[in-house]
Amino acid sequence: MRSALMLVRTVAGLEWLVAEEVTAAGCRVVEVSRRQVVVEGLVAPPRMADDVFEVYGVAPDPGRARAGLAAAVRAALRSAPGGGVFAVSASFVGKRNFNRYDVEDLVGQRLARLTGGQYHSRRDGVVPPDERTEWRVVLDGKTLWVARRPYAVPLHRRPWRQHTVRGSLHPPVAAAMAHLADLAPGHRVLDPFCGAGTVLLEARLLEPAANYLGVDRDPAAIAAAQANAAQMIGASINWRVGDARRIGGSFDRIVSNPPWGVRVDAADVAAGIRRWREVLRPGGVAVALVMGEQVPCGWQVRGRYQLAVAGRHPLIVVLGPSRY
Ligand SMILES: C[S@@+](CC[C@H](N)C(=O)[O-])C[C@H]1O[C@@H](n2cnc3c(N)ncnc32)[C@H](O)[C@@H]1O
Repeated sequence: MRSALMLVRTVAGLEWLVAEEVTAAGCRVVEVSRRQVVVEGLVAPPRMADDVFEVYGVAPDPGRARAGLAAAVRAALRSAPGGGVFAVSASFVGKRNFNRYDVEDLVGQRLARLTGGQYHSRRDGVVPPDERTEWRVVLDGKTLWVARRPYAVPLHRRPWRQHTVRGSLHPPVAAAMAHLADLAPGHRVLDPFCGAGTVLLEARLLEPAANYLGVDRDPAAIAAAQANAAQMIGASINWRVGDARRIGGSFDRIVSNPPWGVRVDAADVAAGIRRWREVLRPGGVAVALVMGEQVPCGWQVRGRYQLAVAGRHPLIVVLGPSRY
C-alpha cells in the first residue's frame, strides 16, 4: 500500500480503536471523525477497519447548496488515475439540498471526463459490474473527500469467510473484540456462542499461538465454523456442539457475541454468561458484544464501546471478575 493520504472507514464506535491500530503500525493519524480515520503512511490494511480508500481529491465541504457542490467537486478533482469501469458511492453528514446520487453522479461524470473511464451510476438501482474500481466520496461537514479503493473487494470481506449463520458478526467488529482481549501465546480462549466462528477466526489471525475452543448448540453453526477454519492455513481451533450453560474447563479469555434476541433467540444467554464466572481463570478477561440490558451484573467493566451496526446499538464490554 502506498504512503499516501488514506480514508480508513470504520463501524461507528470503532474509530478510536482503528486510530490506535494504525498508530501502533507506525502511521500518522491526521484526523478522526464519525466512521472515519484519515491516515498518512498506511503500510498494511487495518483489520479493525471496514474499508480503505486512497485520497485523490480534497476541497472544503460546500455545505447545503447544490451549486456549491459542483464547484467543490471541480476544485477537488483536477486529475485522477483510472480508466475501465468504475462506480462511486457517497455519504454526507447534515442536511443538504441534494441527495447521495447527485453527489455520486457529479463526481462520476467528472472522473469519467478526467480519466476516460466508464462511470456506472447507482441512481437507478442497477448493480454495478463486479469488475470495477470503487470510488468513495465523503462530505464530513468540514471536508469533501474523493478517494479510490486500492483493492478489488472491500477490506471487511474476508477470504476465509465462506459460510455465515443467522446473526453472524461483521469481521472488523470481531477483530476489535480480539484486540481488546489482549491475547497472548498459550492463552486458552473460549467462544461459547461461536456461530460460524468469526470471533475466534479473527482472534487466531491476531494471536496464532493461543488455544481456541468454539462452542455452539447448533450443529449447522459448528459445521460452518469448521468450513471457514478450513480456509485458513494452519488454523487449529477446536469446535464443539454444546450448550453455553454447561461449559466446563478453565480459560484465560472468553471472547463472544451471544445472541441479542433479535435474529437469534436469547432466552439462554443470561444463564450462559453466568457460567463465565466458573470457567474464567483468576486474572482472566471476558470480551462480549451485547445489548445494554445483557451486560452482566457483578463484573468489573474495564472498557465499554458503543457501536452502531445494522441499525442496532450493541456494546463491546471488556469484563473482569469483580473485586467485591
Ligand atoms: C449471534 S450468533 C453468533 C454469531 C457468530 N459470532 C458468527 O459470527 O457467526 C449466536 C449463536 O449462539 C448460539 N446459541 C444460542 N444459545 C446457545 C446456547 N445456550 N449454547 C450454545 N450456543 C447457543 C446460536 O446457535 C448462534 O449461533
